[in-house]
Amino acid sequence: MPSVLHQRSTHSSLANSYPLSPRSSSSSERSFSIFSPINLLALLSLIVILGVFLPWMNIQESIFSSSKVSNSKWREYSLAEAASFVAKNGTVIVCAVSQPYLPFLNNWLISLTRQKHHEKVLVIAEDYATLYKVNERWPGHAVLVPPAPDAQTAHKFGSQGFFNFTSRRPRHLLHILELGYNVMYNDVDMVWLADPFPYLQGNHDVYFTDDMAAVKPLHHSHELPPPGKKGRTYICSCMIFLRPTSGAKLVMRKWIEELKAQPWSKAKKANDQPAFNWALNKTAGEVDLYLLPQSAFPTGGLYFKNQSWVQETKGMHVIIHNNYITGFEKKIKRFREFNLWYVDDHTLESPLGRI
Ligand SMILES: *[C@@H]1O[C@H](CO)[C@@H](O)[C@H](O)[C@H]1NC(C)=O
Ligand SMILES: *[C@@H]1O[C@H](CO)[C@@H](O)[C@H](O)[C@H]1NC(C)=O
Ligand SMILES: *[C@@H]1O[C@H](CO)[C@@H](O)[C@H](O)[C@H]1NC(C)=O
Ligand SMILES: *[C@@H]1O[C@H](CO)[C@@H](O)[C@H](O)[C@H]1NC(C)=O
Repeated sequence: MPSVLHQRSTHSSLANSYPLSPRSSSSSERSFSIFSPINLLALLSLIVILGVFLPWMNIQESIFSSSKVSNSKWREYSLAEAASFVAKNGTVIVCAVSQPYLPFLNNWLISLTRQKHHEKVLVIAEDYATLYKVNERWPGHAVLVPPAPDAQTAHKFGSQGFFNFTSRRPRHLLHILELGYNVMYNDVDMVWLADPFPYLQGNHDVYFTDDMAAVKPLHHSHELPPPGKKGRTYICSCMIFLRPTSGAKLVMRKWIEELKAQPWSKAKKANDQPAFNWALNKTAGEVDLYLLPQSAFPTGGLYFKNQSWVQETKGMHVIIHNNYITGFEKKIKRFREFNLWYVDDHTLESPLGRI
């Protein structure tokens, strides 16, 4: 919000500092005695100056006012409009991003562009600066579902702000399902190395990946794994594919319920993932769930930490998740070390360009 206000005041002060208009200038011309050579010269330069600068100022003003108009247009842009604009073949790819994540968004987008799936991307902006920035570069691909969470507190992992921010995720997803679309959700600290859609086989309700780092056999079961130490599974809420079925909607409703039942506390510093796992646990009997193969969708706890596994499964990796590490700088450093940080050298491949 502060940067929006800042933008606004910049525009109006610029407009006010150039109060000249073509009409007021023509009245000042009449007061000159045009017969003296010096005045003639002055008049000539005035005409040149006005001729050069006035149209330019008008262009500037119209750019500013059109960006004001489009900003207010994007404020009104609804999730239904946005989903219908980006959806291809009934499918939307969704991420939820606040301003500090923009470099990760760009990195992720480059990887989707390489797989030719970027056109289906809908960025759910969690602050107005992100909404305007994405839509300015890539009109129609960002939407904000009000109210925007407090941007200052939204990005520290484990904080209440982060919990509030991620708690919005099942609501966004449920809303898109209710509009009738298939939806793939991704965290933006991911990179696509290949096209994941061929892996979304069959007609299951919910597809997801395991966040456990323990190595599984290559052809492991696609059932929900057995609960781990805490009595629940460790399915990742980072990558989820949902079909607009009653089963998928039920899981989203349960997830929202579980988040309400176990709100954030200082002691637990939870994120939204345990609630997602409890939702899967409680709906497993009624919903058709599908665990994606580990070799294609490994957790960061495996991919970045077990070189021999990476060698053994070479060529099978589809989406890499830079988790099991916290902090923007550390994530970027690790992506760089594994040649997965594209924004340094390939930023122009992103539909957003350099941000
Ligand atoms: C469209 O969706 C159907 C069903 O999900 C799928 O089989 C097909 O390959 C998709 N077509 C394209 C062009 O993506
Ligand atoms: C998180 O949400 C709760 C409940 O809506 C609210 O009381 C709290 O102020 C929010 N905290 C932050 C840091 O956004
Ligand atoms: C759900 O969790 C309970 C408690 O950990 C466990 O006993 C049960 O097997 C789980 N159900 C499924 C379907 O995973
Ligand atoms: C690393 O992966 C190999 C398989 O390639 C596996 O045998 C080994 O147990 C894994 N190491 C750890 C620490 O998980």
